[in-house]
Amino acid sequence: MDRVLIAANWKMNKTVGEAHRYMVDFLPRLTGWEKTEVIICPPFTCLAYLREALENTGIQLGAQDVFWEPEGAFTGEISAAMLADMGCRYVIIGHSERRHILGENDQDINRKLKAAVSCGLVPIFCVGESLPEREQGQTQTVVREQLEQGLAGLELPNLVVAYEPVWAIGTGVNASPADAQGICASIRRYLGGFQVNDWARDIPILYGGSVTARTIAAFTAQADINGALVGGASLDPEHFASIVRLNSDG
Ligand code: PGA
Repeated sequence: MDRVLIAANWKMNKTVGEAHRYMVDFLPRLTGWEKTEVIICPPFTCLAYLREALENTGIQLGAQDVFWEPEGAFTGEISAAMLADMGCRYVIIGHSERRHILGENDQDINRKLKAAVSCGLVPIFCVGESLPEREQGQTQTVVREQLEQGLAGLELPNLVVAYEPVWAIGTGVNASPADAQGICASIRRYLGGFQVNDWARDIPILYGGSVTARTIAAFTAQADINGALVGGASLDPEHFASIVRLNSDG
């Protein structure tokens, strides 16, 4: 697949003023990046600002979470239709911080995926094993289970999958590109079980977990890794621009 996606996950960082200062610095640095699809996933509170700031830039907007109900008495939650209305094309679903800090389970994630797809959003569906699971040799089983339960009842959705080993997120420790390639290839094989018209071949699979400008090229050089979901290193405009550019030059 020629398509390469680099997605920024800002997590719970940046006020609107900080997002504005970021964009003033970031946008002029993005020359010659046409080969890459860039996605920025800010906190909900920055969506309205970024929708305007990203107009005519080709950069896509994404959210970091969504609730599964369409509307109603769900204090604090945001629906898929609301995100689409804010100009979001993507939404991160099943991030390990939501699984582990906020207690989301595979059924919650399945409902969120269905809600997102029904409103035309493209989920960035995160899967990945914890350190104990890895040490017990359960990586393949855990990832397969997350895929199976998350995608239950969904028919060939327009989807991005992000493989993010939990022990590599925010730790400065990467999976080796060869290890990550092995898991991403098995994710594609699993998706191939739904195969119709090469659907699985065209699903972008991202690696996430302490990606930096130093490591990005080794990941995107792998056959089944089509880009990255970048947390910490996306918060600095110069660093994130260099991740996008390095990848585009390759
Ligand atoms: P990190 O986060 O790049 O800071 O490890 C990645 C993510 O959580 O999506």
